[in-house]
Amino acid sequence: MMTDSTVTRRAFISGGAALAVTAGSVVSAPRAAEQKRLRMALVGTGDRGSFTWGQEVQEGYGDVVEIVGLCDINRKRVEAAKKLIGTKAPSFVDFDRMIKETRPDTVMVTTIDGTHARYIARALELGCDVMSEKPLCTDEEQCLAILDAQKRSGKKVTVTFNARHDPEAKKIKELLIEKALGDVISVDFHEYLDTHHGADYFRRWHRLKENSGTLLVHKASHHFDLANWWLDSAPVEVTAFGDLKFYGRNNSFRNTHCRVCPFKQQCKFYWDVTQNQRYVKLYVDCESEDGYLRDGCLWREDINIYDTMSVVVKYENGVFLNYTANTYLPFEGQAISINGRRGRLDYNEFGGGGFSNKGLRLTGSFGKSEVIQGLEPRRVGGHGGADTSLHDLIFRGSQNSDPLGLRADLRAGALSSLIGIAAYRSIERGSQTIRIKDLVKL
Ligand SMILES: NC(=O)c1ccc[n+]([C@@H]2O[C@H](COP(=O)([O-])OP(=O)(O)OC[C@H]3O[C@@H](n4cnc5c(N)ncnc54)[C@H](O)[C@@H]3O)[C@@H](O)[C@H]2O)c1
Repeated sequence: MMTDSTVTRRAFISGGAALAVTAGSVVSAPRAAEQKRLRMALVGTGDRGSFTWGQEVQEGYGDVVEIVGLCDINRKRVEAAKKLIGTKAPSFVDFDRMIKETRPDTVMVTTIDGTHARYIARALELGCDVMSEKPLCTDEEQCLAILDAQKRSGKKVTVTFNARHDPEAKKIKELLIEKALGDVISVDFHEYLDTHHGADYFRRWHRLKENSGTLLVHKASHHFDLANWWLDSAPVEVTAFGDLKFYGRNNSFRNTHCRVCPFKQQCKFYWDVTQNQRYVKLYVDCESEDGYLRDGCLWREDINIYDTMSVVVKYENGVFLNYTANTYLPFEGQAISINGRRGRLDYNEFGGGGFSNKGLRLTGSFGKSEVIQGLEPRRVGGHGGADTSLHDLIFRGSQNSDPLGLRADLRAGALSSLIGIAAYRSIERGSQTIRIKDLVKL
C-alpha cells in the first residue's frame, strides 16, 4: 500500500487534513508528562528508520519517547542518520553493545527484511520489547526463531502495520464488524504498482529474494495483514503463480547503476539519485562502506523476485482471497472488493492518464449502491497520515482502548509473512498448494 516514508501515495492518499480524533480512532490522552519516557533504540538507520522512526519520533513524540541509541552495519549511514534525526544518542555498529550500553525498553527494527528476525530474536533474548517494521520475517525458520525467543523471554513484539491506519482500511473494518455485507464469502485484492514506485523495488536490495522474501513478503505482507485483520480469520492454505516478465533479464541492455550507465539516453527508467539530497547523504555518500547502490540497474540479471504475482488464500472461516500484484503498470493503486452474503464492498483508488476511479462503495445484493461517507479525516504525515495515526497509537494510545484492533501483535506479523512465504514456496514447487501449518505451527 505504500512506498518509502518520505513519499506519500494513493492508497495512503497524500492529505493535508488536520489531526482529528473521530469515532474509531484510538488516540487517547497523552502519556502523563511525569511518566517515564520510553527508551527506544533503533537498528537499521536507512530511509524508514531515520525518518519515520527517527526524525518524526524525535520531533513529534520527544515528550514520551527518548531515542537512546542508533545502530546500522554501515558506519557512515548511522552517522548520516544521526544528523538527519537531530539526536545526540550514541551510534553503534555492534547491536549487542548498543543494548548493553543504552539499556532500551524497546528496540525498533528497521533493517532490511531478511535481517529482521535476527535482531528481533536477539533483542528479546537481551530482555527488550520489540517493534518491527513489516514484514516480521522472510522465511519459516526465521518465524520459528522469533516465536521461540518470544516464548522464552515473555517480552512483547509489535509489528508496525501502518496500512491498517488508512481511513478507508479502518472504515472497511468497521463495516465488517457491523456485518454490513453479512458473512463474507470472498475477497478480490488487486495491487497496482507503476513504472516509478514498482520499478524502484527492482533497483534496490528488494530485488533479491534472500533480502526481501520477494514482493509477496516485502510488499504483500501489508495486504495479507489487511485481509487477515478485516476477515478476523487465519490463513489455512495458499496457492500461487509468479514470474519475472518485465524487469531483470527482460531487456536488451543493462549496467550496474544509473549514474555510470551508457544507456542513460535510451533507458526510460534512467533515474538520477543525486537529485535527492537526503538520498545522497544516506546512500551515495555511504557507498564506500558496503557498496550498496541505491540507483541499481533494474535490468540486472541477478534479480530473482517476481514482478507478476497471483495468489489464492483459503481461510479458516472458508473465505477465499484472490490476490494479484503487478509492478510495471502505467498507474498506481488498488482495487479491493469484499463479497458478502448480503452485498459487496468496493474500494478503488487508482487512475492516471486522464481517468480516475476512487472511493469506497457499498452495494446491497438486492438494494441500492451507496458511496460510504464519514471517513476519518486524513492526518498530516507519511503515507497520507497513516504513519502519524500509527505513532499516536503506539506512543500515546491507551492500552485499553482499541475498538478496531489496530494494534498488530506477533501472531499478526507471523501470519501475514507466512502467507507470502507460502506463496513463494508454492511458486518454487510448481504452484503446489502449501498449508500454513506445514510451514509453522502457531
Ligand atoms: N511500513 C512502511 O510503510 C514501510 C515503508 C518503507 C520501508 N519499510 C520497511 O522498513 C525497513 C527498512 O526499509 P528502508 O526503505 O528504510 O531500507 P533502507 O535500505 O533505506 O534501509 C535499510 C537499512 O538497514 C541496514 N542494514 C542492512 N543489513 C543490516 C544488518 N545486517 N544489520 C544492521 N543493519 C542492516 C542498511 O545498512 C540500511 O541502513 C524494511 O523492512 C521495509 O520493509 C516499511
